[in-house]
Amino acid sequence: MYNKIFAPKILTNRLLIRLVEFNDFYDYFLMCSDIDVCRYLTFNPYDNDRQAQIAINNMLNAYMNGTDTNFTIILKETNQIIGSISLTFHKENNSAEIGYILNKNFWHNGYMDEALKAIIKTSFEYYHLDFIIANYIDENVSSAKLLDKNGFVIYDHLNKAFMKNHIAYNITKTILTKR
Ligand SMILES: CC(C)(COP(=O)(O)OP(=O)(O)OC[C@H]1O[C@@H](n2cnc3c(N)ncnc32)[C@H](O)[C@@H]1OP(=O)(O)O)[C@@H](O)C(=O)NCCC(=O)NCCS
Repeated sequence: MYNKIFAPKILTNRLLIRLVEFNDFYDYFLMCSDIDVCRYLTFNPYDNDRQAQIAINNMLNAYMNGTDTNFTIILKETNQIIGSISLTFHKENNSAEIGYILNKNFWHNGYMDEALKAIIKTSFEYYHLDFIIANYIDENVSSAKLLDKNGFVIYDHLNKAFMKNHIAYNITKTILTKR
C-alpha cells in the first residue's frame, strides 16, 4: 500500500477535473457502452450500468489504497460529465501511467488535449513525479497524436502484446519526462 496523496480539483479554461464519485456511474455507463469508445480499450462495451458501478467502486478502492487516482472530466459551462483521465502510480520509480476516455459526443473539440495538459502539469508539480508513461494500440491514431502533441516520445514497441476478442494487437509505449 502506498501513501495516498489527496486528489486535487483542477480547473482549466473549459473543464473541471475532480476525483471520480460513485454517482458518476451513469455517465461512465453511457461513455463505456459505446463500441467506438471501447475499440482500443482493454474492456468490451458495458451492457448495463451495474458494470460502471463496479468499475467506479474499484477506482475508489484503488484511490483509498493510494495506487490509482481516477479523475472525472466535467464541462464547466453545462456541468456535463464528458470523460475520465487516470493516473496509476508506480512508486518504485516515482512515475505513473496515464489513461483517458472521452464520451464520443465530445470528440474533436480539444477537450482531452486540455485535460491531458492539466494532468501532466499536476503530475509534475503536485505529485512530483519524475516521468509519465502512456501506452496505446497502434491503430489508435487519435491517442497517438494526442500524446505526440503533448511531448510524449516512443520508447518501445511490442508486437502482438495485447489480446482482445481473439485478436492480437501491437502496443506502442511512450514516455514524458519532467523537464
Ligand atoms: C483518444 C481520445 C480521448 C481523443 O479524443 P479527442 O480529444 O476528441 O481527439 P481527436 O479525436 O480530436 O483527435 C486527436 C488528434 O488525432 C487526429 N485524429 C483523430 N482520428 C484520426 C484518424 N482516424 N486518422 C488520423 N488522425 C486522426 C485528430 O485530427 C487530432 O489531431 P490534430 O489535433 O492534429 O487535429 C478519444 O478518441 C477517445 O476517447 N477514444 C476512446 C478511448 C481511448 O482510446 N483512449 C485512449 C486509450 S490509449
